[in-house]
Amino acid sequence: MTSNLSSNASNQTPYYITTPIYYVNDRPHIGHCYTTLIADVAARAQRLVGRDVFFLTGTDEHAEKVSKTAAENNKTPYEWATINADRFKAAFEFMNFSNDDFVRTTEDRHKDKASAYIKQLLDQGDIELGDYEGWYDPSQEEYLTEIVAKENNYNSPVTGKPLEKRVEQNYFFRLDNYQSWLQEQFANDTIQILPSARKNEVLGRLKQGLMKVPVSRKIKEGDADWGIKMPTDDSHRIYVWIEALCNYLTTVDTDNRRKYWEGEVTHLMAKDILWFHAIIWPAMLHALGKQPPKTVYAHAYWIAEGTKMSKSLGNFIEIDLLAAYAEKYSLDAVRWFLTTQGPLGANDADFAHARFVEVYNADLANSVGNSMSRVGNMVNKYFDGTIPATCNGQFGFPDGSSLQTARKALENAGKPVDDPNRTFDLAKFTSEATNKYLEALDRVDIETALDTARSIVREVDEFISYSAPFTLAKQLDTLDDAKHALESILYSCAEALRIASLLLSPAMPQKMAQLWSTWNCKHLSDPTDSNSSFVAPLIELAQWNGPHSIKAGQSITKGDALFMRADTNEPAPEAVATS
Ligand code: MSP
Repeated sequence: MTSNLSSNASNQTPYYITTPIYYVNDRPHIGHCYTTLIADVAARAQRLVGRDVFFLTGTDEHAEKVSKTAAENNKTPYEWATINADRFKAAFEFMNFSNDDFVRTTEDRHKDKASAYIKQLLDQGDIELGDYEGWYDPSQEEYLTEIVAKENNYNSPVTGKPLEKRVEQNYFFRLDNYQSWLQEQFANDTIQILPSARKNEVLGRLKQGLMKVPVSRKIKEGDADWGIKMPTDDSHRIYVWIEALCNYLTTVDTDNRRKYWEGEVTHLMAKDILWFHAIIWPAMLHALGKQPPKTVYAHAYWIAEGTKMSKSLGNFIEIDLLAAYAEKYSLDAVRWFLTTQGPLGANDADFAHARFVEVYNADLANSVGNSMSRVGNMVNKYFDGTIPATCNGQFGFPDGSSLQTARKALENAGKPVDDPNRTFDLAKFTSEATNKYLEALDRVDIETALDTARSIVREVDEFISYSAPFTLAKQLDTLDDAKHALESILYSCAEALRIASLLLSPAMPQKMAQLWSTWNCKHLSDPTDSNSSFVAPLIELAQWNGPHSIKAGQSITKGDALFMRADTNEPAPEAVATS
């Protein structure tokens, strides 16, 4: 069962996953929650695999727009940043994210090291002083190349607002020196840019050639005292983007954490900021003598009920609305919907109430939840809630004879099966699914990973429909071997669902923990550890009839339904302001 496993199964390299650090000019919305959720699911899944994981998120605080909004709100920049950083922290706690740290760029631990990196680049000649004239996008606080500016009619490609022509004396990072090195990294996938459509865009832009990039801003009169000064020149501040990128390294540049940078690094973000992460940051790292990230993953955008979200339309899906959905359908249902229906690939995704209810019913109420309670209920009804002693996995499929008995029972009941040659091998099915899951994780393909987990539930559902244990149960006294067959079928279903629940748990940690508690599978993870650590690596936990499988004599109590069916006509929940 353990042959042909993905390389991930025994991967001992530490795994480091990051999200962008978010601007604190405003409160968190679905976009911020989504990226952080994908990182959370990936982090939980890698912990489940058995890897040493570090998951970082945080806030980017030294942007001009933070000090501007602070002034509009009669607060100092730091006060305003703190109000919003706290909102991000609260939102992420609410979403049950398992981040190992939350960095604020106003913290000394970040500022000191970011400044030291810039100093090193200055000393090495990778950063130098020069004049700069270029197209500046004030809404994004970034300069664009002439080509990109022209392509967008000299408007911001992100907000559509006009670009400004600015001339500045600046410090520059000699990005142009790293063109061929970068090309090599992408050619041999030393740095993999995902999804592939995004990689092609980056390669296309890279071909146009790299210029040196400004890494400082001259301090003007009247500027808020906000940001980190250039280490050797008080009249300049480090450009907020350059400083922000450093967070990924500053936070783990300590004796205890350095192993994470030396392990496998994955940066997650949306397509808006891919260039910084795929080009500028790896080049800076190379200049600093540090290893580049292994994966740079840029997803697409959420839109709301068919319309792009914007401040002017006021249609941002904020954390309060997600909280209202969680209140009604459970937090894990919200996590499930966002993770499986989100813009992980190249295309944008729509948050629409009707779709939410459809997915909730189809995937959770009628599938995962229903299958788990059905099997639990049958074990309760036919075996008084205890997995029978005769059944310790050895009757699990592929023994085939139980299926024959089930067919016979159906024939006796006058309802013969349509396809007498159909076979089921749940042991093999779960082992292959686990393998596929591990492979998908290597590509941060969380959607495929979760669909693979759910394919086990679908197979169990088909198996139950086909083998009709309820029909078999009526012939226990009249049909030879009926008891053995019933035990074998229900054991196989329970064991397959146990494995499915493991694979589903990174997306739905609370609901799967609820199942483990009613099925007495608490040994799968240590409930006292909030960081969702498991007692063994996935490959052991998911072993059919292995040390952690469902055992003879194990009681499976009848629990509450994990997900109640939702009425499709119910109105959408409404946000209740919490902050
Ligand atoms: N502070 C910079 C990032 C610096 S990282 C070194 C920044 N912050 S941001 O607050 O604007 O966050 C941008 C990120 O938020 C996107 O890359 C994405 O991760 C997330 N999203 C914001 N809006 C989004 C959607 N509509 N849909 C999906 N995710 C989006 O840029």
